Amino acid sequence: MATIEVRAAVYRGDNGDRLGIEQLQLADPEHGEVRVRVRAAGVCGSDRHVIDGEWQVPLPAVMGHEAAGVVEAIGAGVRELAVGDHVIIAWHQACQRCAECTGGKPWACTRVRSNDSQLPDGTTRWHTADGAAAWPYLAVGAMSERIVVPDFAAIRVDPRVPFDVASLIGCSVGTGYGAVVNNARVVAGESAVVVGAGGVGMSIISSLRLAGASPIIAVDVSEAKLAEAKRAGATHGLIGGADLAERVAELTGGGADAAFEAIGRVATMEQLPGLIRPGGRAVFVGLPPEGQELRIDGLQLAYDGKTLIGSNYGGLVPARDFPRVAQAYLAGELPLDELISTRVPLEEVNEAFDAMRRGERTRTVIVFDEDDTAGAAN
Ligand code: APR
Ligand code: ZN
Repeated sequence: MATIEVRAAVYRGDNGDRLGIEQLQLADPEHGEVRVRVRAAGVCGSDRHVIDGEWQVPLPAVMGHEAAGVVEAIGAGVRELAVGDHVIIAWHQACQRCAECTGGKPWACTRVRSNDSQLPDGTTRWHTADGAAAWPYLAVGAMSERIVVPDFAAIRVDPRVPFDVASLIGCSVGTGYGAVVNNARVVAGESAVVVGAGGVGMSIISSLRLAGASPIIAVDVSEAKLAEAKRAGATHGLIGGADLAERVAELTGGGADAAFEAIGRVATMEQLPGLIRPGGRAVFVGLPPEGQELRIDGLQLAYDGKTLIGSNYGGLVPARDFPRVAQAYLAGELPLDELISTRVPLEEVNEAFDAMRRGERTRTVIVFDEDDTAGAAN
């Protein structure tokens, strides 16, 4: 089996939350797989859950799951993609065959293996220098110069979309768009509140503006994040607190039509049903640490006819939705360049997670080549 050497950010769990930059061996793509040269990888909150020990994954782990790049090699049987295609990677790699997948709900596939860092056949193409298996987080392992993924998880994108923007469409932006369009089904004129204005929350806000929601209320603990949220389309910014429901009710005339939690904190998740009006929808996008329980007011839920929606990957159908998001971006309707605050080389990945822990930066994107940014001529 032919392999190539790749540089990647690896979490071993034996050095606290620090990632090491290691040389790994990556095997050639097998049947139905492609090798992608990664050009941009977003630093997303889910990776932080893992390296802070909140979620368990197979180790050593090649971190990262938000990626865009160029198809570099194709395995046997790959018909949809060609070398040179620009692609966005989907991290939820459903089986493509079950009732859920064929019924338009791939995010509900029960046979998915990418959650366990496995390719559809249960294996990995990565090995460490000493020959042990290494596991790509969510079967992507985006923080690697090159990756091997199933062909259906590499979605072709218009090459006019810069790689850094494209990478975000694979997770935070796609999830935010899907939460608004697929989960909450927000229509023009509805009111919305978004708790947490980080990478995912800002994507929800941009998509709410695209959908014509008004007002759009952003909630965060950071004034700087609220200022950015207003640039992305929020009409109001509120610092969170115990009286949040009253303040939202005042701005919306009795509660928002749709509310989104984009942090993954129990306290803010518990607040969410109280932010919506009777008949409203509360969408849970942020993912909490394993094993945490929520307390909600049962009478309020039932009597007020509220809908609570769990959002896995924004209810996305990647092959349908990634191109839609890309087209909205190219048409100037989704201001995605503004979501990216910082671009860094792979070597600065630990500092990027430190900044996230301090609540700084909207999104850091790891770029593998200086030309891979929205600002650069393409
Ligand atoms: N109230 C309001 N906002 C808060 C609070 C709080 N108590 N605590 C943190 N925040 C804000 C932070 O200031 C930050 O702006 O929440 C935001 C979180 O954003 P990021 O750290 O950028 O995380 P992100 O990548 O957006 O992911 C958020 O979505 O997909 C999931 O796994 C992901 O659970 C994570 C969540
Ligand atoms: Zn993510």
